[in-house]
Amino acid sequence: MDSAGLLVYGLAVVLAALFVYLLERRGASTLNAIPTIGPSGRISSCFSAIKFIFHAQSMVQEGYKKYKGGVFKVPMLDRWLVVMTGPQLVDALRKVPDEELSFDHAMQDLLQVKYTFGFEAQDNPYHVLVIRNQLKRNLADLFPEVVDEIEQSFVDNIPNCGNEWVGVQAYSAIMDATCRVSNRLFVGLPLCRSAEFADVQSKFALQVVMRASILNFFPKFIHPILGRLLTNTPSSIQRCMALLRDTIEERLRNVELYGENWPDKPNDMISWLIDVSSKKDRNLRSLCLRILVLNFASLHTSAQGFTHALLHLATHPEFIDPLREEAETVIDQEGWTKASMKKLYKMDSFLKESQRLSGTSLLPMVRKAMKPFTLANGVVIPTGTHVAVASIPMHLDEEFYPHASEFDPFRFADMRQEEGESTKHQLISTSLSYIAFGHGKHACPGRFFASNVMKAMMAHLVINFDIKLKQEGVRPPDQWFQMNCSPNRTAEVMFRRRQPQL
Ligand code: HEM
Ligand SMILES: *[C@@H]1O[C@H](CO)[C@@H](O)[C@H](O)[C@H]1NC(C)=O
Repeated sequence: MDSAGLLVYGLAVVLAALFVYLLERRGASTLNAIPTIGPSGRISSCFSAIKFIFHAQSMVQEGYKKYKGGVFKVPMLDRWLVVMTGPQLVDALRKVPDEELSFDHAMQDLLQVKYTFGFEAQDNPYHVLVIRNQLKRNLADLFPEVVDEIEQSFVDNIPNCGNEWVGVQAYSAIMDATCRVSNRLFVGLPLCRSAEFADVQSKFALQVVMRASILNFFPKFIHPILGRLLTNTPSSIQRCMALLRDTIEERLRNVELYGENWPDKPNDMISWLIDVSSKKDRNLRSLCLRILVLNFASLHTSAQGFTHALLHLATHPEFIDPLREEAETVIDQEGWTKASMKKLYKMDSFLKESQRLSGTSLLPMVRKAMKPFTLANGVVIPTGTHVAVASIPMHLDEEFYPHASEFDPFRFADMRQEEGESTKHQLISTSLSYIAFGHGKHACPGRFFASNVMKAMMAHLVINFDIKLKQEGVRPPDQWFQMNCSPNRTAEVMFRRRQPQL
């Protein structure tokens, strides 16, 4: 965050504390039965809500330790969040229908959907269908484009210094690569390489989250005014529309003239979105909104996840050799295909282990109780309450992962060696004790795509480069903000053309 952003944030926090006090919004008597981390008074909990912004991890870890298998609550600035812990509750939560514990309604509150995306994207989530179906189905055919964009983006992001080491700011390079690679399939060339396009997409997500959280500080009755002042959606959509107008209008014209399957129809996200959209949604504005929402869901999650993995690799260059050997063996035989990505067991395991130790979301699987929800132990979660699951403490629990605090890159590959286990423990597999992508019905539909892209990106890097940290062996500290664990955004990773083995 820049200093102006911090100032605005700081001001909002102070104002919020005041509002919350004045309007006594923290009445939590219905949640009295649920233990609290930190003080639970109306005012005292405001202070711990501020603490939560920067120390969510230790507060949730404390709760996990004390109440494992049960629930506890942590204070957010505007509400309490009930945290569920342990596999049994993950299982309980995933079985509950949306009418009782709602993903959409939780998002409506958290992201202030009414003022940010607008309800239309939730009412008719055709972009999610496209990820589940078309993107998955077409990925093998489109894989050469993914690989081409990966190669090009690293040519552009890693200066060619031949045999010398060169420092690269990892997060921004990976953000650029991730944006280009996914948008190569979303909107195609040349737009996927446009800096203006990347700027719209990456800022939109940050602004939605930031503005929604500011809005959430304030009482509901001023949302209609403040929401319209704070929203960035109209301007983002305008910018996105300006960039995509020619492409989309031409596609729509071709559908009009020649029907759904016009000759030479490009095989990309825009076409798929047009294919599945209803008449009402088949227009420039709606399609641009979906491109923004897709980038919202995919860009920062993937860029942060991959950067975490790259920093783990740079901290432990001794793992480059095994990954390189595996990638070269497979790719020499089969080339850069989606099928070969499936054979990269070590790579898959490495990325999964990175996500276990350095998950980006401390509290995924957020839901809102639409009616009172009773846990097996009798505790009642009242209507309107938000619940989520403590992921990182479970991923760091010795009960589920031996020597859990250690980065053991091939632990999942080893588990797959055991009989009957070869398809389990993949990066894309979710489980009751691995919830980095969620688990159950709402589990991330983009994880198949993300997993293939991340494996191809990392394979490309280890085949072509030697990699290390400037300060060798010392992983730069993560940056926590609320429930998000970002890799260090200023950290440099050193690259040099791969040197021949002595
Ligand atoms: C490493 C990268 C990623 C991570 C860690 C991640 C994680 C998640 C998580 C935790 C959820 C919520 C699950 C729940 O609440 O139960 C989610 C949902 C979602 N993700 Fe991802 N995601 C990633 C990449 C992507 C990509 C690349 C796309 C799109 C191509 C995507 C699209 C979505 C969508 C659309 C949803 C909402 C699903 C629904 O409405 O049911 N994600 N993701
Ligand atoms: C990120 O890492 C750099 C060193 O690479 C360090 O100077 C900086 O303080 C770190 N940032 C945070 C927020 O920890």
